[in-house]
Amino acid sequence: MELSSNSHPSRIASVADLKGPGGARPIDPMRKFKTRHRPNQGSYDMSDLAKRIVGHYEKHAAAWDHDRRNSHWNDKVWHDRFTGRLAKGATVLDLGCGPGQPVAQHMVEHGLRVTGVDSSPMMIAFCCDRLPDQEWIVADMRQLALGRRFDGILSWDSFFHLDHDDQRRMFAIFADHACVGTVLTFNTGPQHGEGVGEFRGDPLYHASLAPAEYQALMARFGFRVLQHAINDAEAGGRTVWLCQRDALG
Ligand SMILES: C[S@@+](CC[C@H](N)C(=O)[O-])C[C@H]1O[C@@H](n2cnc3c(N)ncnc32)[C@H](O)[C@@H]1O
Repeated sequence: MELSSNSHPSRIASVADLKGPGGARPIDPMRKFKTRHRPNQGSYDMSDLAKRIVGHYEKHAAAWDHDRRNSHWNDKVWHDRFTGRLAKGATVLDLGCGPGQPVAQHMVEHGLRVTGVDSSPMMIAFCCDRLPDQEWIVADMRQLALGRRFDGILSWDSFFHLDHDDQRRMFAIFADHACVGTVLTFNTGPQHGEGVGEFRGDPLYHASLAPAEYQALMARFGFRVLQHAINDAEAGGRTVWLCQRDALG
């Protein structure tokens, strides 16, 4: 396993830090994941915040799309690594695909065939307009059962919005949609915890398991870690996993 980490300290922020002094500072949705442990969770009901994610993105779909398309695409390096492992014509399942730009569009430009899944009808409408030749599905990834397997699966900047138990359950869903050889990528936080960011005045829930637990889950389902970076400075501080399925697990 190639393990690259930068010299940045583990990023722990208090809720107050994330919200800014006035509580109204808009936070770039692509900013790095920050975790915060339960004992200091302050006044937030984390379980309630996790349940609000689906509604949050539908409410803010247009604004989020605007920001994503007008921000520097600082995570592209990982999308290049993912697409670089897939042959032209390969099928990709994009979980939490968002508005289709820049991520799905980039994959299509590399000759990949994309099935995008997002819980937000508005996000999927953007995808249908922009990339009408691909497959777009409004669905919650936590209940996904397409009965098909893909050459690549990514859950980019979306998996980390699921709570701990939903993240654990996602590995069976990844496996159900993967064959031997499938490349899987997703990003998490650097350590076990929960965090609250903010977008357009609304709190934004994130969670992460510990790296050792992700490794155990991947091993259980036959995924081998190809590359892993913690707080990758080249990718906006993201913690990233790039894996491949070696066995049906
Ligand atoms: C931060 S955006 C990332 C979009 C895209 N992957 C990208 O990197 O540009 C998170 C996306 O995940 C979607 N999402 C969040 N929870 C989801 C769930 N449980 N099932 C499906 N999509 C979900 C949201 O609707 C949103 O479009």
